[in-house]
Amino acid sequence: MRSIIVIRLRTLLAIVCSYNQTQIFCFQFHVNESSRQTSGDSLQVFGKASRTLSWWCFNPGLAMEEFLKLGVRSIILTSGTLSPLDSLAMELNLEFPVRLENPHVISQDQIWVGVVPVGPSGHPLNSSYRTRETVKYKQELGTVIVNFARIVPDGLLVFFPSYSMMDKCIDYWKNRNHEHSVDDSTIWQRMCKHKQPVIEPRQSSNFPNAIEDYAAKLRDPSTSGAIFFAVCRGKVSEGLDFADRAGRAVIVTGMPFSTPTDPKVRLKREYLDKQAKPSNKNPKALTGEEWYVQQAARAVNQAVGRVIRHRHDYGAIIYCDERFVWPNYQSQMSYWLKPYIKCYSKYGEVVQTLTRFFRDKVCVDPKEMDSNEIALHRLQTNVCRRRFYLTRLPQQ
Ligand SMILES: *[C@@H]1O[C@H](CO)[C@@H](O)[C@H](O)[C@H]1NC(C)=O
Ligand SMILES: *[C@@H]1O[C@H](CO)[C@@H](O)[C@H](O)[C@H]1NC(C)=O
Ligand SMILES: *[C@@H]1O[C@H](CO)[C@@H](O)[C@H](O)[C@H]1NC(C)=O
Repeated sequence: MRSIIVIRLRTLLAIVCSYNQTQIFCFQFHVNESSRQTSGDSLQVFGKASRTLSWWCFNPGLAMEEFLKLGVRSIILTSGTLSPLDSLAMELNLEFPVRLENPHVISQDQIWVGVVPVGPSGHPLNSSYRTRETVKYKQELGTVIVNFARIVPDGLLVFFPSYSMMDKCIDYWKNRNHEHSVDDSTIWQRMCKHKQPVIEPRQSSNFPNAIEDYAAKLRDPSTSGAIFFAVCRGKVSEGLDFADRAGRAVIVTGMPFSTPTDPKVRLKREYLDKQAKPSNKNPKALTGEEWYVQQAARAVNQAVGRVIRHRHDYGAIIYCDERFVWPNYQSQMSYWLKPYIKCYSKYGEVVQTLTRFFRDKVCVDPKEMDSNEIALHRLQTNVCRRRFYLTRLPQQ
């Protein structure tokens, strides 16, 4: 055992020594005292207490430098969620002389985008850690989703900032009645009256079954669609096509900030703050806080990108958190979305315009039935192809 450690330490030292003084500042050591797991990027030291020694690089620019050293002439970076480009280019320490940000191919009448800061009873929707645990918040959010489940046809996606938040809300909705409700059904039962529910499983291996279930519920003619409860940064939010009927609207219930006490997050923020000090030569450098918001915003952009998947597709993007009214949140939204965003101060207006949006869409071309079936089929095959990859994703 000791020899393994020595060899590993020697390897580590060799790697450490291969960087010069400027580069070495991009790394941080971290010791986790009570770890039992090993992960690819950490080194285990066996002793009385198990410790994990990690040496993390917080500057992705170093990896890009390696590319350049290989003599790569062109690097094409493409994704729907790269913006803001300036800070990205700076992080990667590359100039990117050619930059392109496109609007979407769809026209204005194919999309409804709104920030919904309050629910029907006027209570603010604010999923910040101070308010999200309150009964009032969970109740208001639940009522809002019941309403949208009624208005939105077919597939509806609802994204939560984390699994624990999703579980807490669903638990609450299943167990409580709305205080002003005339009937005595729970919020959950009222949601299910409009749409059959599917919940994103924590275990990646169960995910393909959840997708099958969702597709089956969408095909079921006895109800008016299905609702998928999922988390930002989860499996539903990244890379799947919820085209046409598979996704007519996406609701974002809050900003998915990562845990600030997570050592990787904490050290990255510290690293950026050090870089962004006024004494530093780069005045445009991202601060730790800016990076933190940006990461969450990218996860949101990723999630809302699930619904409009082709030129003839249409759908709604609904931000249910009053903080999305803030300019520093809106500035992080995808470029193609920005022209369409409307902030609604009155809940009634949301219901009215959204209802009209979907009513006007009913009379579409007769080929729609085919394209819907294709959309569901593609969603399922897409998952099968990704199954291998999905089962390898770390669990949150
Ligand atoms: C360290 O390496 C980087 C590129 O790899 C170079 O730009 C920089 O000048 C070097 N710094 C020192 C102090 O040698
Ligand atoms: C230490 O490692 C364990 C296992 O990998 C992890 O669950 C725990 O959160 C880590 N603790 C800290 C403070 O990083
Ligand atoms: C949402 O809650 C946070 C934390 O409690 C608060 O700072 C913020 O002002 C609230 N809402 C808005 C729109 O700012």
